[in-house]
This record gives sequence, structure tokens and C-alpha cells, in this order.
Amino acid sequence: MQSRRLQLKLVHGRLCLGLIFGLSLLIWVTFPSDPDHRRNLILRAGNILPFLGIPRDLADYYGIAVKRPSFVHTKLSYLQHRGYQDVKNPKLLCWITSYHGTRQRAAAVRHSWGQQCDKFLIMFPKFRDRTYNDEDVSLPVSYHYSALWNRTQLALLHLWEHFGTTYDFILKADDDTMVNVTALRRFLHGFSPQDPLYMGHPLHIPTLGTYMSGGAGYTLSRRSFSLLIQALTKNSPAFFRDSLPEDAALGLLLASVGAVLIATVDSQDRLMSIPVRMTHFEGTQVANWYTNANAAPMKDGTSHQRFQCCSDFMISQHYISPEMMTKGTT
Ligand SMILES: *[C@@H]1O[C@H](CO)[C@@H](O)[C@H](O)[C@H]1NC(C)=O
Ligand SMILES: *[C@@H]1O[C@H](CO)[C@@H](O)[C@H](O)[C@H]1NC(C)=O
Repeated sequence: MQSRRLQLKLVHGRLCLGLIFGLSLLIWVTFPSDPDHRRNLILRAGNILPFLGIPRDLADYYGIAVKRPSFVHTKLSYLQHRGYQDVKNPKLLCWITSYHGTRQRAAAVRHSWGQQCDKFLIMFPKFRDRTYNDEDVSLPVSYHYSALWNRTQLALLHLWEHFGTTYDFILKADDDTMVNVTALRRFLHGFSPQDPLYMGHPLHIPTLGTYMSGGAGYTLSRRSFSLLIQALTKNSPAFFRDSLPEDAALGLLLASVGAVLIATVDSQDRLMSIPVRMTHFEGTQVANWYTNANAAPMKDGTSHQRFQCCSDFMISQHYISPEMMTKGTT
């Protein structure tokens, strides 16, 4: 009896091993070598996760319903369909977050491109009750990196409370992002602040979704700002409490209110906003994370590595030192 059972077990074991080996061989032989093809296959395989009760992405995990698939438009493709809107002198509010450790950077922004916005604000987390300038906003939140999403939420609520829908467009950037406000205004020309627009450098990370890079700076229209504020009180409390990548979390909220994603690229599809330095694109060594994330699904059905560096008319660049910022060059 005992040895029969053992024999059966051994047969089972061998069968299982054979099956695993056969399957691996099959996958190895049939798996496409083309990276685009491979990526799509893996993404499609990800679609079965929710059926197995495993959340596929941030939206799934927090049970946030996304109104429509987050396809990215270009200015051309959007305005072709929407029609060109002639808005005279749109009012632009710009804000950055900083903290006491990098206040020199914030000062450099204030004295350079910050001046060119109709309103400019620096949001500091509270630190020993210090403020650095009359116009700075001191938020009741920790300066730790893990509180960044919390900080962004408080900052948005602050803006809503103090300015509501006064401004047509709102730009958010980091304290080491250099923005050419003239180029941004030129880009915004033709868009209506009444449309729910969300503009910047789209990143696509399957588990996080499609969202605009925070480091490259993103711009919201008046309409998407007010929709966002409404969304900030809905949804699961955990979503607001957890320590999430703030730009991805914001992107998810904007997707839940049906905001339209517009890539800040020129008419030749060259990037005008970059979440990395320009030198990052020199040679062939573009970081893997960037190559993978520069793959947002486009409205016209294309995706992988759609955008190339860089436009002759840059709007924004990340990781710029205060010295470079003040000089206005890179
Ligand atoms: C800013 O952008 C404008 C418009 O594209 C351009 O004319 C100007 O030279 C740019 N400024 C800098 C410092 O690059
Ligand atoms: C944000 O941080 C503040 C201060 O640390 C805290 O009181 C508040 O509960 C936090 N908010 C959320 C939604 O976690």
C-alpha cells in the first residue's frame, strides 16, 4: 500500500515537472521578441488579475472608477476636434512645493520664472512655525517625503479656499523645475479654461496608470481644478491617507473626473516638458524607467516611445540648480 502511494506520488511529480517544462518551452518558443509586442502581451495578461481578486493597479486597489480610458491627446489632435478657443489673456497661477532644506531653490524660482505668472505661491510644510516670505504658505503637514501626497492635497484645498476659480490655468512644479512661462502661455493659447484639461509630460506605469509627471510640471484648467476639488472629498479615505506618489495619485483623481490629458509636445511631437535633464537624452543611455514610462497610450492608438527629445521651444525641465535657474539657461 505504502509503496503504491509513493509510486503514484512519483508519477505525479514527474508529470508535473514535465508539464512545467513543456509550458516553459512553449512560452519561450512562442514569446514575441519584439519589445512592443511583448509589452502588450504582458499588459493583456494583467487583465485577468481583477478576476482573481488581485488589484491590477492603483484605481483597482482603491476602487476608484475611471470615467474613460486615459488616452493622451496632443494639442493638434485635441483642437482639431474641439476647435480653437480664442481666450484673451488667460490668468495663470503658478505654485511649487518646497521645504526648509531646499529653500534656496524656492527663492531662485521666486526671483526667476515665478515672476512671470499672474500669481506665484510657494507651499512650505510647517517647520518650527517659520515662514520665509509674506507670500509663502505654511501648511500643517510634515516635511517628510512620505507626506507629499497629503501636502499636495492640503495645498490644493488652500488654493481653492483662497482663489476658487479666479485663475484660468494653474501650473504646479517642483522647486527645481525651470519653466519658461512665455512658452507655456503660448502653448495654452487656443485652449479653453472651461474644458477639463490636464497638461504636461505623460508618464504611463501600468500599476499606477497614466498621469502627468510632477517634476516636469503640470497645468490644470479652471474646470479640471474645480472637478478635482470635488473629487478630493469623495473616494475611499485610505486613498487620501496613504503615502502615494503624489503625481500618480492626482492623475488618478483627474482620470476619475474625466479630465482630458494633453501632452505638452510641439507640432512635430517633440517634448516641450521633460521630467529629467536635457543631457539625459544625449547618447543612447536614456534611463530604462523613462523609456518604459514614456509610453502613454495615445488617442490615435499609438503608444510606445511616442515622444522624442526635444522641442526648440521648451516649456519646462526638471533638476535645474538654483544657479542655472537664475541665469535662465541650462
Ligand atoms: C522662452 O520661450 C520663448 C517662446 O518660445 C522664447 O522666445 C524664449 O527665447 C524662451 N526663453 C528662454 C530663456 O529660453
Ligand atoms: C495630513 O497631515 C496632517 C498633519 O500631519 C494630518 O493632521 C492629517 O490628518 C493628514 N491628512 C490626511 C488625509 O492624512
